[in-house]
Amino acid sequence: MSHVKQEKWSSGTAFLLAAIGSAVGLGNIYRFPYVVGENGGGAFVLVYLAVVIVFGIPLVMTELTIGRRRQVPPITAYVQLSEGKKSQSFWRLAGFSSVLTPLGILGFYFVIAGWTLNYVYSILTGQLNNLVEGQTQQVFNDMMESPATLIFWMTLSVLITGFIISRGIKAGLEKAVNILMPMLFMILVLLVGYSAFNGGMAETFEFMFTPDFEKINMKTLLEATGQAFFSLSLGSATMLVYGSYLPKEVSIPKMACGVAFADTFVALISGFAIFPIIFTNGLPLDSGPNLVFVTLPVIFDQMPFGQVFGILFFLLLAFAAITSTISLYEPAVSNLEERGIFSRKKASMVVGGGLWCLAGLSALSMNVLSDWHPVGFNETVAGMNIMDLLEYLSANGMMLVNGLLAAIFLGWIVNRSESLEELGLGDGKLYKFWRFIIKYVVPPVAGYLIIDFIGYGFI
Ligand code: PHE
Repeated sequence: MSHVKQEKWSSGTAFLLAAIGSAVGLGNIYRFPYVVGENGGGAFVLVYLAVVIVFGIPLVMTELTIGRRRQVPPITAYVQLSEGKKSQSFWRLAGFSSVLTPLGILGFYFVIAGWTLNYVYSILTGQLNNLVEGQTQQVFNDMMESPATLIFWMTLSVLITGFIISRGIKAGLEKAVNILMPMLFMILVLLVGYSAFNGGMAETFEFMFTPDFEKINMKTLLEATGQAFFSLSLGSATMLVYGSYLPKEVSIPKMACGVAFADTFVALISGFAIFPIIFTNGLPLDSGPNLVFVTLPVIFDQMPFGQVFGILFFLLLAFAAITSTISLYEPAVSNLEERGIFSRKKASMVVGGGLWCLAGLSALSMNVLSDWHPVGFNETVAGMNIMDLLEYLSANGMMLVNGLLAAIFLGWIVNRSESLEELGLGDGKLYKFWRFIIKYVVPPVAGYLIIDFIGYGFI
């Protein structure tokens, strides 16, 4: 089946940088702080850390293993590893679903990536100077109501990503992360330093690390699991495809720990860049999605060198977004290229064209198409626009389904010897523990969350 020899990462470090680039994204810097804010701080952080350790790391290991075992793209990986099993055609579908999911995610992610680019430009050109809170809300609303603005910046993010993808693994993806990740890290350190200098650190520590146990409930667990899936790029073929480019001699468990550690570290650090500013200015912690695009610009405007830091902050978001969009775009391209129907360049263009249409619909769903709502399914869905719907179905629903399927596949279907050999842990306690988690812990928990997602939950 395979017509094209797959490129590989040049080294374990190159993979690590790309995988961290994928994991660290809008989920860490934009979403994590506001979800922590909405869910009462320390309690959420504690549950989140537990979820990353208990499910996150074993699942990253699982997906990397499925990807690397035969060193082929995701759908073929599922097909080859279920060779000779009665359920093979089902697993082909599982592979297919895992490749479709990131496309759904990109349908909304590209739009938000566009917002971040637009904000860099707006601050640079002084459009956010001398504004008070209500006015930054107005700026944000104006952007949402302008199809041209949304589509322009969204298109730019599709083009940048498509260009990187079309150049291939070494000349495209690796090169991009080699430039973007160090810059991202430097900006983050600068921002935290700046925040620390302006006070509010003690309150931030207390808020993030003093769990109020009474606030821990099923909803916290649900939110934390969803956040961990999204943040670790699980359930979306990204880890499958990045794993398939991983040289055989590199240790998967070590890489999985490295990715999970770095990703969680950046999420926490983002909290330390944002919350001190919120505390010293006496602003609400639970302003939700508005936190970054509406609340922060007011403060940047009032702080010394605020404009510079505002630009840096949105650049940080933009870089983090781009290193994630490439990882969401790659699985489909990798599959198309493998079939030999398209060259990588053509495949990048075809996928990009489709994604541009989808993200275009998302962008329009906030203005000209805002009256369109899906019918049926469940109550949650009834009031959504296309962008919310894409997010809900792909990031909340399908990611869990794909993650569950990956765990069942490697835990129950694929011969034990395959994962035993690929993980390189020997047949000791560590391997047995990993296997126990993906066989007996992940399926019931993910299954429960999926039932809840469909709307028959008990919470
Ligand atoms: N992990 C990325 C983020 O936190 C999003 C992502 C999800 C990327 C799934 C790839 C696959 O923003």
